Amino acid sequence: MKRVLMLSALMVSGVSLATTVAQVKQKGVLVLGTDPTFAPFEFKGTDGSIQGFDIDIARAVAKDLGVKLEIRAVGFGALMPQSVTSGRVDMAMSGITITAERAKVVAFSAPYYRSAQVFIVRGGNPGKFAWPSDVKGRTVGVQANTTGQFVANDLLKPKGVTLKAYDDFAAGLADVRAGRIAALVGDAPTVDDLSKRLPGQFQKAGADLAAEDYGMVFAKGSDLAAAANKTLARMKADGSYQALLNKWIVQK
Ligand code: ARG
Repeated sequence: MKRVLMLSALMVSGVSLATTVAQVKQKGVLVLGTDPTFAPFEFKGTDGSIQGFDIDIARAVAKDLGVKLEIRAVGFGALMPQSVTSGRVDMAMSGITITAERAKVVAFSAPYYRSAQVFIVRGGNPGKFAWPSDVKGRTVGVQANTTGQFVANDLLKPKGVTLKAYDDFAAGLADVRAGRIAALVGDAPTVDDLSKRLPGQFQKAGADLAAEDYGMVFAKGSDLAAAANKTLARMKADGSYQALLNKWIVQK
């Protein structure tokens, strides 16, 4: 009864439901939420299993806690931040950029990967898209609810660029390929990955829009963030972090 009252009091006050290390250990499983459309960080392999750089890091966090990892596929719009603040997942990893706005609602681990927002255009750049010059009157795609959208709103809109938001990144890529939009804003390592997997179809163009850092995401107040930081430090010290970079990320 007391627990129920406490829980409803928490919900009324709008405080998020943080799972603790003790609770995760008790249930024997760490639930990871991820949007697996973001190679090489999280994507579905040919066998249908969700894999990638983020997944291997989450596995290491679970292993250090002595529990199993359970992976739930969640669209990015629902993942950040609702799936974490509602307690539906214990943690989220999805190439999620650390921002001050997001840090008001969720807890981030220490940064684990340095990234950037870049422009993706059709191979050969037939539209001659160039940033920061020559963008006026062009249409550029962004993925809804991502930092790519936030930075495009700040920097591109004032330059007379029309923005088109996609829930699904793949739909944006299809429009780039068909020439329906001049460019799409995306995360640099995913573009490098695309250029390698689909040579000639896509490439970067213009200057980078912004540098960013990825973080693991937890509900505010959860001691899981500290546990994740410990695993990260351990992996950097014993070489397993570097091994994962070599395994998954396209080296430039
Ligand atoms: N880094 C960007 C952000 O945090 C995009 C992440 C998109 N990730 C994904 N799995 N779709 O907003």
